[in-house]
Amino acid sequence: MAKTLILDHPLIKHKIAIMRDKTTGTKAFKELAKEISMLMCYEATRDLATKDKEIETPVTKTTCTVLAGRKLAVVPILRAGLGMVDGMLALIPSAKVGHIGLYRNEETLEPVEYYCKMPSDIEERDVFVVDPMLATGGSACDAIKLIKQKGAKNIKFLCLIAAPEGIKKLQETHPDVDIFCAALDEKLNEHGYIVPGLGDAGDRIFGTK
Ligand code: PRP
Ligand code: URA
Repeated sequence: MAKTLILDHPLIKHKIAIMRDKTTGTKAFKELAKEISMLMCYEATRDLATKDKEIETPVTKTTCTVLAGRKLAVVPILRAGLGMVDGMLALIPSAKVGHIGLYRNEETLEPVEYYCKMPSDIEERDVFVVDPMLATGGSACDAIKLIKQKGAKNIKFLCLIAAPEGIKKLQETHPDVDIFCAALDEKLNEHGYIVPGLGDAGDRIFGTK
């Protein structure tokens, strides 16, 4: 089975605490989502392939390590996943971006697909699916299923906050997908919201409530 990593870093914990605070406004919330995504990208790209390259410094010739050049893609689950894209692209700027539009039906909590546009060569790319919230896991599981149907094989999932229920469902449905979370919370409430969580990530990023 692939790995599940809860990122245990003081900077991430501090930034997540500010995001959770209901008095944090949209501007700060968005900036923090970007900063945490950058820190998570650093960890999620730890196993990227590298190769040797001869270069000449102002002093001498030397052999350096550079990326082997695997093609990458970042796929946000709309809407809230958009809040993690800039942080990812800050570290992997040559990645292409695909989009999957899903929203949760508020009564059934089942994800409803309304948009899917992937880079044409998605099957050749290592894919980082991003969404701030992994609650029941329905959205992440469906998004990853769609991406697999398009031919992608090497997929990682990054979220800011996960519920145990979502982690379990994602591990069981897609045991080949590595999961990276900034925080693992206690549970879901009766409305499918993560407790303690941070509320509705999409609304807080886009100021829609
Ligand atoms: C949120 C969140 C995830 C989903 C998580 O999106 O961004 O996509 O809920 O819940 P799940 O794990 O139970 O599927 P939402 O459906 O609120 O849509 P939005 O991003 O457009 O606000
Ligand atoms: N989606 C959110 O935005 N927040 C939650 O707590 C659960 C799902």
